Amino acid sequence: MSAPVPPTVETKMATRLTSRPAFQSLTKHFESASGLHLRDLFATDPKRSERFSVDAAGLFLDYSKNRITDETMALLFELARQSGVQEHIAAMFSGEKINITENRSVLHVALRSARTDTCNVDGHNVVPDVHEVLDRMAAFASRVRSGEWKGFTGKPIRNVVNIGIGGSDLGPVMAYEALRHYSRREMIFRFVSNIDGTDFAEATHDLSPDETLFIISSKTFTTLETMTNAHTARDWLLAAAKQPAHTAKHFVAVSTNAKEVSAFGIDTANMFGFWDWVGGRYSMDSAIGLSTMLAVGPENFSRMLSGFHAMDTHFRTAPLERNMPVIMGLLSIWYNNFFGAQTVAVLPYDQYLKRFPAYLQQLTMESNGKSVTVSGHRVDYETGPIFWGEPGTNGQHSFYQLIHQGTKLIPCDFIGFAKSLNPLGNHHNLLMANVFAQAEALAFGKTEEQVRQEGTPEWLVPHRTFDGNRPSNVILAHQLTPEILGALVALYEHSVFTQGVIFSIDSFDQWGVELGKVLAKKIASELAASDDSGLNHDSSTNALMRRYRRERA
Ligand code: F6P
Repeated sequence: MSAPVPPTVETKMATRLTSRPAFQSLTKHFESASGLHLRDLFATDPKRSERFSVDAAGLFLDYSKNRITDETMALLFELARQSGVQEHIAAMFSGEKINITENRSVLHVALRSARTDTCNVDGHNVVPDVHEVLDRMAAFASRVRSGEWKGFTGKPIRNVVNIGIGGSDLGPVMAYEALRHYSRREMIFRFVSNIDGTDFAEATHDLSPDETLFIISSKTFTTLETMTNAHTARDWLLAAAKQPAHTAKHFVAVSTNAKEVSAFGIDTANMFGFWDWVGGRYSMDSAIGLSTMLAVGPENFSRMLSGFHAMDTHFRTAPLERNMPVIMGLLSIWYNNFFGAQTVAVLPYDQYLKRFPAYLQQLTMESNGKSVTVSGHRVDYETGPIFWGEPGTNGQHSFYQLIHQGTKLIPCDFIGFAKSLNPLGNHHNLLMANVFAQAEALAFGKTEEQVRQEGTPEWLVPHRTFDGNRPSNVILAHQLTPEILGALVALYEHSVFTQGVIFSIDSFDQWGVELGKVLAKKIASELAASDDSGLNHDSSTNALMRRYRRERA
């Protein structure tokens, strides 16, 4: 299964992170830098926000409210160099098999390349293949959206249900919600992922089968949840349509596995393919985005791809010091590996981005939640942080208290837009005032003196004091357009990549989800059996299963 580490990236990855000279210099630098307060850093440097900000692909990143100095950044850039970040970027874009444990290229960047570009995998240019699928998706989406594609009673499709899980669900859901403003409002879009039958039941209870199209999205077409839901969907359709031949009008597949698609009973003429060099969590811009394209139309989908591409080009060509994803990745390393921060909060101040944190959780944690390096050694440092978040301002009335005054250091990414897609009264100014206010409050806090000056009784002073010095990034864009969504997702993809390279891990495999899957299959067949014999788990699992069986009966 394992393949040799590609030669261009081998040398630098071979050195343990903690042995790299820049890591050791950063460890020393941290001793003094960790004592600095953002209040003083800003007070002594009027140009700080100018220096610590960068523009790329329509996004503006202000990273000045981080606990960094020029020296910190210089050392972090040096760490990137010593870790081979530039070589790895080149290796990814040139189709090298940097997913070493699966012996695969990592070329999601090819999904958004221009028709005239070249991206080779094993000497084959994959760009024409990508555009062939995009063209087929566009033709299909146009037929459905125009009403030309009819269901079994001759009525046009009004409802689209995407069935998938993980990368075959989170990206499509997030993109649908994010681009809802651009979507076809007469159509209903639903997403079924959970193997809990409630998910399917609730998603379909008010839909007419003859107007419903199911997209079965699964890279492997073997995932238990998706295949179980797909079979339930077929039964649901057939209960109304009666004739199996009618399913052809109501089921399409998105997969890399034509054999399993046929075996399920979907004609491969109604299958939209992608390739093993697209990881599930990096696939929302492949055919996995078919539901997105049906919702927003081929033109808006292509605008989204151009936003991805703009960030890809920036990532590939900008020097490290002006490279937005590299900077974000390095800041994450700074808090994760030196300050010991365990988590990162992503706080989009846009209701359309309500599923963005959930999407990022898979992207970041399935990618960098590893504890073995590419050379098979156990790490002696922290790897990927935990990502979480909620849209603002809702989060402010729930967990922000802990971010402001708790004992944990939680770096935050605030995301905001200059223009609202729903400009109602003064809502947007109030929304954005909260972005700026939160980042300011976190950084500068409120001193005891300030609290006293407000006339606070002495016993209340400690409670009303804010230490500040809590770091944040602010990402600003003009408006939430398809292009900006693409750029934003690519920004995080490449930041995750940068961190993975520095950790010397394979960010593109996911062996950690296998064990649970295997055990669940074994237990499912045991639960189906009528007698208790042969339960050979630990005493806790055996007892739980017996109790479940009893109560179920
Ligand atoms: O959870 C593991 C995983 O393999 C993810 O990486 C992937 O996105 C998801 O399952 C779904 O896989 P598939 O698209 O093959 O159904």
